[in-house]
Amino acid sequence: MPLTPELARTLCAMPKAELHLHIEGTLEPELIFRLAERNRVALPYPSVQALRDAYAFTDLQSFLDIYYAGASVLLTEDDFYDMTRAYMQRAAADNIRHAEIFFDPQTHTSRGVSMATVVNGIERALAEAQARDGITSRLILCFLRHLPEDDALQTLETALPYFNSHGHRLVGVGLDSSEQGHPPNKFARVFERCRALGLRIVAHAGEEGPPEYIHEALDMLRVERVDHGVRAIEDEALLARLAREKIALTVCPLSNVRLKVFDHMGQHTLHQLLKRGLAVTINSDDPAYFGGYLNDNFLATFDALDMTLDDAYTMARNSFEASFIDDAEKRRLVGELEQFRAAQAQ
Ligand code: HPA
Ligand code: ZN
Repeated sequence: MPLTPELARTLCAMPKAELHLHIEGTLEPELIFRLAERNRVALPYPSVQALRDAYAFTDLQSFLDIYYAGASVLLTEDDFYDMTRAYMQRAAADNIRHAEIFFDPQTHTSRGVSMATVVNGIERALAEAQARDGITSRLILCFLRHLPEDDALQTLETALPYFNSHGHRLVGVGLDSSEQGHPPNKFARVFERCRALGLRIVAHAGEEGPPEYIHEALDMLRVERVDHGVRAIEDEALLARLAREKIALTVCPLSNVRLKVFDHMGQHTLHQLLKRGLAVTINSDDPAYFGGYLNDNFLATFDALDMTLDDAYTMARNSFEASFIDDAEKRRLVGELEQFRAAQAQ
């Protein structure tokens, strides 16, 4: 089905959840420069345009180098608040009803910023968005996989007071950063401790790394969702397992094209994964760096792949069902989606 103006409008208006979003990846160049000025941080780029021009990535690592440089402007609680507030306004505009947001505390604590500064700033903006726009949210702490496991264990200890405590949205852990050469098994101990603590568990796997990393994330880390996971398409047994065990994939189409996982959107395997019965969802990953927010990802995907409106409803429904909210909240959000669908059909 071609992307007609009517289909585009419906995709954009559809209630949906975002389950794969790095909050540091929502820092737009303009905000990076504003925060750099406010905090007197020197940037290695002379202008907003020069920074934007540097966003010509060849692979995951070439992106991560710039992404960590951008995050260096974040110092105060207000910085984390301003960043998160800007994203939640975009989320509201995209009709996101629920967001599960990654953050990378090690990127900040290694610069002397406290865990409290990071979490409190983000949480303040999330509470405000819930009060203002009714968008619910959860936070997921990601360990940086290029660092040693001991750093991750230390980070977990520092974050313990914030998990699942009254009023806090921090419910789980993930694993991100440079995938190749840093397999999930490197973090078996820290994830075992997270499981014992009753935390929700996800990990990036099969973005650039091989299908074996997805098997490892399932077997050793016991992930409940796989972030990216697109390389599962290379492994028949893995496809069958992901479908059977109803493990959702948080796929990020614009990210995959920008980081050269696929040469162009027409080659993206999202539709094949969906047709194989996997619980695929569409997400934006690092929207300030990859050319678009969640609705831009929906539009680019539907423009390039031969999918139907039913596929969009399936993925929106998947996004609510694979989320870490309780069953009553899930029923409410799926009900909202069904109401929207019924209204469209009239
Ligand atoms: N992959 C791995 N690490 C990341 C990503 C990603 O897409 N975005 C931010 N950190
Ligand atoms: Zn990611």
